[in-house]
Amino acid sequence: MEVFAIDGPAALRGEIVVRGAKNSVLKLMAATLLAPGRSVISNVPAIADVRIMCELLRRLGCGIDYDAAAGTVAVEVPTEVGITADYELVRLMRASISVLGPLVGRMHAAEVAVPGGDAIGSRGLDMHQHGLERLGAQVTLEHGYFVASAPAGLRGAEIELPFPSVGATENLVMAAVLAAGETVVENAAREPEIVDICRMLVAMGARIEGIGTSRLVVTGVESLAPVSHRCVGDRIVAGTWAFAAVATGGDIGIRGVPQALLPNVLDKLAEAGGRIEDLPGTDSQGSATAEAPGFRVRGPRRPQPIHVSTLPFPGFPTDLQPFVIALNSVADGVGLLTENLFEARWRFVNELSRLGAKVSIDGNHALVTGVESLSGAEVEASDIRAGAGLVLAGLLAHGRTEVSGVDHIDRGYEDFVPKLRALGASISRIEKPEPDFL
Ligand code: UD1
Repeated sequence: MEVFAIDGPAALRGEIVVRGAKNSVLKLMAATLLAPGRSVISNVPAIADVRIMCELLRRLGCGIDYDAAAGTVAVEVPTEVGITADYELVRLMRASISVLGPLVGRMHAAEVAVPGGDAIGSRGLDMHQHGLERLGAQVTLEHGYFVASAPAGLRGAEIELPFPSVGATENLVMAAVLAAGETVVENAAREPEIVDICRMLVAMGARIEGIGTSRLVVTGVESLAPVSHRCVGDRIVAGTWAFAAVATGGDIGIRGVPQALLPNVLDKLAEAGGRIEDLPGTDSQGSATAEAPGFRVRGPRRPQPIHVSTLPFPGFPTDLQPFVIALNSVADGVGLLTENLFEARWRFVNELSRLGAKVSIDGNHALVTGVESLSGAEVEASDIRAGAGLVLAGLLAHGRTEVSGVDHIDRGYEDFVPKLRALGASISRIEKPEPDFL
């Protein structure tokens, strides 16, 4: 068993480069299925989920050329792609569901395993299913798989989502680009990753209006062409470093993501006492010509508590909620976090309490009373962000913290340990023996 061993406390100082967003690149890779030929995606992060998506596409018949160091994935899509995404891969990575829309759109059939529940709650897929049905597909659940078919192809429709689901918006747009006629998605999600996917689809020849708004209008085309596309920077990873700077009283320059992708987040960090400014050569919109737009975050001696409600973009992202709780746990006062997207995102809190954090949960609220300092302990990561949140808490704690479940962290953060070390943290990845009495 591997663990991250951290000797805290530490104030992080230095500069970091953030590459492409996990939550975009996986969908961009799925979108390549829409056009036969060789598509190339760049600014790809070296994370485990990219390797899982490579394998999924390989099993669908694609040729994959993945260069982790260069950050590129080339996908050679055959004329006839397979239609089955196995449970073996889907259970490892929920985002596998994003091949459903492209497969139904292009092959008019798909069999995609239904992911189970996970540590951040039961996550429905009804909007994916109903949306595809509105587009004319028949979708049934058979032996743990969504089996979708539309022998005569999909046809455009009006779809109003009851909630701006990121995954459903993406799947429906990817299905609609090759459907006959016009599709309107009302109450669409507006996350920067969705904008990124829409831009890639447009570069492939798709017709999409309203990109970045909650009303997307897609006019179907006959076929799409392969493309080269640079993935948008990972705002959640950038946000992670920004929280680390403020919570530890450090000073981090973060390149690869402009401030404009973190509305609300940087405002909250300023409330906590952080000072934020653009790095030289950047404007806050992250000008198109800047190679690596970025910003610098400096933290106070001790942060002020912040009150945060998670909401769909441009609201405060749910994926940064563990960092809010970690920051509040050492803040000078009481902070309240309200989780509005996922129902059971609290496993992290039990672990954080082992470090001495004072958190009380009431429904979807977490009330945190800041303490002077946390004390190191052994804790376990239950998902990607919870894992990174525990590492941050370990940096705030006195003494040694060991975070297990590091495979979760590897799914979303490239070179996490080397990057933390470069910023001055005392952290290493160590092997611990499994218990031998079982
Ligand atoms: C994506 C992100 C995840 C992020 C989330 C919200 C990826 C790979 N993951 O997840 O990191 O936390 O957006 O920003 O991009 N829901 C339904 N029925 C559906 C679809 C969703 O009830 O058909 C519910 C979910 O249970 C959840 C909420 O809607 O409570 C949000 O889910 P959604 O926006 O779809 O998130 P994901 O795409 O799964």
